[in-house]
Order: sequence, then C-alpha cells, then structure tokens
Amino acid sequence: MHRLFDLTGKNAVVTGGSRGLGKSIALGLAEAGANVAIVSRGECPEVVSELKQFGVKAVSIAFDIANIPMHQELLTIIEEKLGKVDILVNNAGVQKRHPSEEFPQEDWNYVMNVNANAVFSLCQVFGKPMLERGNGKIINLASLLSFQGGFTVPAYAASKGAVMQFTKSLANEWASKGVNVNCVAPGYMATDMNEALIDDEVRSRQILDRIPAGRWGTGEDMQGAVIFLASSASDYVHGFTIAIDGGWLGR
Ligand SMILES: NC(=O)c1ccc[n+]([C@@H]2O[C@H](COP(=O)([O-])OP(=O)(O)OC[C@H]3O[C@@H](n4cnc5c(N)ncnc54)[C@H](O)[C@@H]3O)[C@@H](O)[C@H]2O)c1
Repeated sequence: MHRLFDLTGKNAVVTGGSRGLGKSIALGLAEAGANVAIVSRGECPEVVSELKQFGVKAVSIAFDIANIPMHQELLTIIEEKLGKVDILVNNAGVQKRHPSEEFPQEDWNYVMNVNANAVFSLCQVFGKPMLERGNGKIINLASLLSFQGGFTVPAYAASKGAVMQFTKSLANEWASKGVNVNCVAPGYMATDMNEALIDDEVRSRQILDRIPAGRWGTGEDMQGAVIFLASSASDYVHGFTIAIDGGWLGR
C-alpha cells in the first residue's frame, strides 16, 4: 500500500456495513489497514470474520441510526471497543418508491430521517472529537439523485440532495480544523436496494443503455474512492462529491 493510501492503525466506522455497498466499503478500508466498526440494524458476525482476515480489529454494533438521541451513546460504545474514530463512512440509507402525488408523508419522514437527519447528527457527534484532535475524515453517501430528481423517489432525492449540500456546509467550517468532509455518489449499483429496478426488465434495460461504462456498478467499484477520501491522499479535498457512476452524469 502506497503511504498516501495506507490506513494502518486508523479506526473506521461504516454504517450499514452488513451488506451491499457498505460491506464492500468496510472490506476495502480493512484491506487498506483500518480497524472497522460496522453499525447496522442487526449484528453481522460473518462480515466481522471477513474483515478480520485482513489482520485488523473488527466489531459489529446493532444500532438503528434513526435513533438520533442515542448517537452520543453509539460513539461511546465504539470508542470503548475500538478507540478514537478517525474515519466515519455514513453509508446506511433507505429507499421508498411511490408515485409522487401519492407519496405517503410517513414514508417521506422515514426516508428523510434515516438518510438526512441521522447522517447530519452522526457528522456532528463523530465530528466533534475529530475537531478537538484536529484531524478526521467523514465520507457521506450521496447519489446520482443528489443531482437529479429520479422517478417515484422524491424523498430519496430530497434526502440525498440535502446530504450533498450539508457536506459542503460542514466542509466550509471544518476544513481549516483538519477535518475532511466529502461525499461519494454511487450510480446504478447492483445491490438489494435496487432489486425493484433490476427486476423491472424495461427500466433495467433503459438504465443499462444510458451507462457509458455499459454495466451496473458493484460494491468493489466504491473501494478506491472511499480509500482515497479516508486517507491522507485527500488531505486537501473538502466538500466535494465524487461520482462513481460509470459515466452517467457526464452523459
Ligand atoms: N445501490 C445503489 O445503486 C445506490 C446508488 C446511490 C446511492 N446509494 C447509497 O449507498 C448507500 C448503500 O446502499 P446499498 O445499495 O448498499 O443499500 P442496501 O439496502 O443494500 O444496504 C443498506 C444498509 O444500510 C443499513 N441500514 C438501513 N437503514 C438503517 C438504519 N436505520 N440503521 C442502521 N442501518 C441501516 C441496512 O441494514 C443495510 O446494511 C445508501 O446510502 C444508498 O442510498 C446506493
């Protein structure tokens, strides 16, 4: 591992690391040398075993990030198990699909709470000790729908737009204090979240035809950009969103 990308001895937290993109991100960080705490709705001992194969410390914590009043407690638990947190990857996210004119308020609130409110609070709670120490890396999961409106997913688009915007706000205030806050924006990735799209033959084909790379993305596609943003290679990168989208946004 080149010294710029080496994460040996760093402690990373990945929310929603039990599956999908979060699991691949956690494995990528561990391969680069970081100890990893997975935060997800249930325990995930099999992911912890996979992480440990890289010779790092790994733990999983069952926690619902929508429980915002308990975020401080979550930080304390992680610090007890792993030590100070150097890297926070806010990966956990949810999706709800309905025609916009019928989108239930309950689903709107649910998506906004997990994808935007909880992420902002986690940035605050985990960011404070980073600011006190004068270093830290926060990577938020944005989306193509931080840029575009999508179809039948207005709450998701609103939440991911919010994430990209407040990432810039935090970066403006925290860049001079040694804390980097950035986003990665995955394109269309073949994960459980997109099951409905993948199963819809027409939409699936339309999407594939529009991706310049000619394929859906994978969890492994996320690893390089996240390691970059988690490492000293990105020390002068603040408030930016890196799209990992097979070229979609440039089209
Ligand atoms: N898959 C894509 O095409 C795509 C595209 C753009 C952005 N993203 C974003 O990437 C991130 C990961 O997506 P994915 O496709 O791997 O999704 P996924 O549904 O496969 O996994 C999401 C993970 O988040 C966890 N999670 C959800 N709500 C939680 C909560 N309240 N508390 C704790 N954990 C919770 C789940 O348990 C799961 O581990 C999300 O933020 C998503 O919005 C995904």
